Amino acid sequence: MSVRTLLRMGDPRLQLSAAEVKDFGPAALEPLLRDMFDTMQAAGGVGLAAPQIGESLRVVVFGFERSDRYPEAPAVPRTILINPVLTPLGSEEEEGWEGCLSVPGLRGWVPRFRHLRYQGVDAAGAPIDRTVEGFHARVVQHEVDHLDGILYPQRIRDMTRFGFQDVLFPGHIAGDD
Ligand code: NI
Repeated sequence: MSVRTLLRMGDPRLQLSAAEVKDFGPAALEPLLRDMFDTMQAAGGVGLAAPQIGESLRVVVFGFERSDRYPEAPAVPRTILINPVLTPLGSEEEEGWEGCLSVPGLRGWVPRFRHLRYQGVDAAGAPIDRTVEGFHARVVQHEVDHLDGILYPQRIRDMTRFGFQDVLFPGHIAGDD
């Protein structure tokens, strides 16, 4: 198990456009994926993108049965998604609270496409093609934004709904992020 240091907002490495994965050999991907899941789990997150641990590659992981960070959210299957391509289905948006392990302690009210198709490949290079909605669609959009150097505060339209979690939600017990 190797829990890696999470880069935090302001680090220029979080602003890069990450590179496509071309090498699907296990030696290349397995240690990275193990570290990503270990780091995500240790931080109690629902998703993580490789650039958040300083690896500028188009790899995201996400999924949970139940999240203390998002207690209302329905389960999302544990997924490794490499070289993702997102296609919003329709223009309908939905707003919801987001946090990010790279923006600890804060939450913001973020619009996302409600219906989404996402494609990519898994760790073995096998295709993934899913149509999802709601929180699942939100998580994917958040994580894939990391691959293009975008953090969720850049997506907030109403900056009055961006703040510290313990101030926005007093009395709510959760992790420090
Ligand atoms: Ni994030």
